[in-house]
Amino acid sequence: MIQAVVSRIQAIARDVLLLELQAAGGQALPGASPGAHVDVHLPNGQIRQYSLTNAEGQGTQARYQIAVARDAHSRGGSAWIHDKLRVGTPLAISEPRNLFALDAEAHGKVLFIGAGIGITPIYAMVQSARKSGLDWTLAACARSSSRLAFLEELSALDPARVQFHFDLAQSGPLPLATLLAGSPWDAVYACGPAGMLDAIEALTTSWSEGSVRMERFKAEQKDASANTAFELVLARSGQSIEVSAAESPLDALERMGVEHPFSCREGLCGTCEVSVIDGVPDHRDNVLDSREKASGLRFIPCVSRCSGRKLVIDL
Ligand code: FES
Repeated sequence: MIQAVVSRIQAIARDVLLLELQAAGGQALPGASPGAHVDVHLPNGQIRQYSLTNAEGQGTQARYQIAVARDAHSRGGSAWIHDKLRVGTPLAISEPRNLFALDAEAHGKVLFIGAGIGITPIYAMVQSARKSGLDWTLAACARSSSRLAFLEELSALDPARVQFHFDLAQSGPLPLATLLAGSPWDAVYACGPAGMLDAIEALTTSWSEGSVRMERFKAEQKDASANTAFELVLARSGQSIEVSAAESPLDALERMGVEHPFSCREGLCGTCEVSVIDGVPDHRDNVLDSREKASGLRFIPCVSRCSGRKLVIDL
């Protein structure tokens, strides 16, 4: 955990604040790669994940920047930040963690799509792509230009590489099918509303493994009506517990007194990830990629379940 302090707050778009965080003791912060996020522990007890918009790579960096959009349905995270946070407020944050890494060496021609506040990890990736000489194109979209964070900075980039799309001015959403078919992309990296990401997923089913990478800010709603109970076995201690249909494996671990790290409890941040020793996971998370899910070796106990009657995990 890093004890940080808010060193700057700036409105950078309608309902979007840029926060700058520095170590409370003034020391350098761990470096981060584009796509990384930090868990922010708010004084009101909430923990939220925010992408770094200034991931500077290996080594260290003096400050982190995150951008926070006010969520109309906020449960106390973004609303608290917008209404209560002040310069000088101490905040505990995690070390950066990257579940949406840019694999620049694996691709030649990359399409970035950032919509709404989903522009935040994409903005960090674009900055890195420019430095690495990647052949990149960015589609940056929002409901209106006033709602797009980093509009000024993005407008200053190569106009041949940056396309803006504003739904209200252009009478509709980003034409994804045209965009995805418009060039022989080696990969697409996208972050934005669930509906847009679902549409990208549907349009790229024939793309090669690993060429479509997305980060979701909200967990997909999963139908829990067919959940069944199963036995969760902790390999190291030999303990076991029945996970009921109504609880998550993480809930069950806590019920048996096991303290296991967690943050989002929504299958988004990866903090609770464990290894699987035996059994077949029923993955419900947005952390593991398709290869990791297919391997059956990793498990996100805050949301995922078991396809059979018993799952043995490395705890
Ligand atoms: S606590 Fe965030 S993925 Fe499980």
